[in-house]
Amino acid sequence: MKNLYVGTSWKMNKTVAETREYMKKMKEFMQNNGEAIKDLDVFILPTFLAIDAALQITRNANSGLKIGAQDCCWEDFGPFTGEVSPMHLKDLGVSYVEVGHAERREIFKETDEMVSKKVAAIVKNKMKPILCIGEEEKPSQIDIALNFLKNQLLDDLSRIESADLKNIIIAYEPVWAIGATASAPLDYIKEAIDFLRALLNKEFGGRHGDDQVIIYGGSVTPESAKDILALPDNDGIFVGRSALNIDYFIKMIIMASEVQKVK
Ligand code: 13P
Repeated sequence: MKNLYVGTSWKMNKTVAETREYMKKMKEFMQNNGEAIKDLDVFILPTFLAIDAALQITRNANSGLKIGAQDCCWEDFGPFTGEVSPMHLKDLGVSYVEVGHAERREIFKETDEMVSKKVAAIVKNKMKPILCIGEEEKPSQIDIALNFLKNQLLDDLSRIESADLKNIIIAYEPVWAIGATASAPLDYIKEAIDFLRALLNKEFGGRHGDDQVIIYGGSVTPESAKDILALPDNDGIFVGRSALNIDYFIKMIIMASEVQKVK
């Protein structure tokens, strides 16, 4: 049985003080619900500025809560003004680094070439990339989206070995479903995830696609989370807006633990 993942990126939200407050409550929840959450992977990606504060609260707390970053540079050090080094993130105690989010691709013009270099740098620094992929528009025929996903995923994974796939979390986030009023339809999510698994089996051999951690993101709410988590081939949810409210995030974690029992 694979763990179910429940994660959130706070994007550019929450000050250090707000982060501390949230993390203290999360730590308490995780510590008091150890049995329920034992087969879950729960991660939070605060802003860079708040990562250290989040780590200090959760470190040695035996809470199982993982802290990550929302991006990093592909180089460890050097003349890259304003960038954040993956080596420094590792040194700080970070476990996960998100890469290739739709907002980075669209607003900051990140290319698949840059994303692939970041994935390789994160793996090299022994952290887990959360690689976001997704088609920009909902097509009239899903095949158009699947073809786009194929090219994007294979480009983004072009610098890693098949043995590294087990350390990568793929987040399928259709861009049209991010920041929207509803998540993508369940059958659409299922078809896309099944396609990605078959693609990885074919390209990397063996059961790589079946074993791959693939989660869904895009307008997940406490109302939609349960059905998305219950999709047979989906390994979890990646939440934006809804998880800024800790009560909602905790609700979704509890849902995941219930789904996990019957999955
Ligand atoms: P929303 O849940 O706000 O749509 O954001 C999803 C997302 O971008 C997670 O990476």
